[in-house]
Amino acid sequence: MTNVLVITSNPDPGSLTDTAGDAFAAGARAAGADVDVLDLYDAGFSPVYTLADRRHYLGRGPVPRDVAVIQDRLEKADVIVIVFPVYWYTMPAMVKGLFDRVICRGFAYNPSGEPGALAGKTVRVVMLTGGSQGWYESDGVGEALDNQIRRQTLTKYCGVEDAKIVYVDNLVSGDDDPERRRAVAEQLERLRVMGESLASE
Ligand SMILES: Cc1cc2nc3c(=O)[nH]c(=O)nc-3n(C[C@H](O)[C@H](O)[C@H](O)COP(=O)(O)O)c2cc1C
Repeated sequence: MTNVLVITSNPDPGSLTDTAGDAFAAGARAAGADVDVLDLYDAGFSPVYTLADRRHYLGRGPVPRDVAVIQDRLEKADVIVIVFPVYWYTMPAMVKGLFDRVICRGFAYNPSGEPGALAGKTVRVVMLTGGSQGWYESDGVGEALDNQIRRQTLTKYCGVEDAKIVYVDNLVSGDDDPERRRAVAEQLERLRVMGESLASE
């Protein structure tokens, strides 16, 4: 059975971010996967890098307890999906903290070059954007995000070969225009199908 971990970051449980995570999770469940959902806000995750994190990074202290709990959930997963709204052309602070504190040295990668805990897993980074995917891909910002998040962080450091960025784009929070609603529904359906297909591999 495939183990899927869906991580979402939005303060509003009714947000499109959480709905997008639910769509992926529903598809994966329909394909028989064991699905674990981690809502970083519900979990009370603190993204702020602490002295304990630094001590652990320097090899002078244990992994902080709240970090270890999430690392266990990441380790169990075959497929990891991280869903977040783009704020100011990058990931929100909550997700940055997930990378800084949890996807850390000694867990996700090792200075010795020994593979980390994420190596060989499948990772999808689902970004919700006000702008269009076409704009992101043509204006350099998409390339920067792909380079930072996928190519450098996930693939080069963490050994995740099967990493992809997925856009849910052209969003306007609270917009009830039927055309836009239809476009969003199609994108949510695409995520459901993606969840189903990745859980069946
Ligand atoms: C603080 C903030 C910054 C944002 N910055 C960007 C941005 O740089 N690029 C973009 O395409 N959309 C940006 N947006 C729009 C959101 O990404 C978009 O509305 C998305 O749908 C939010 O997800 P949600 O509907 O789940 O809240 C921003 C929204 C907020 C609240």
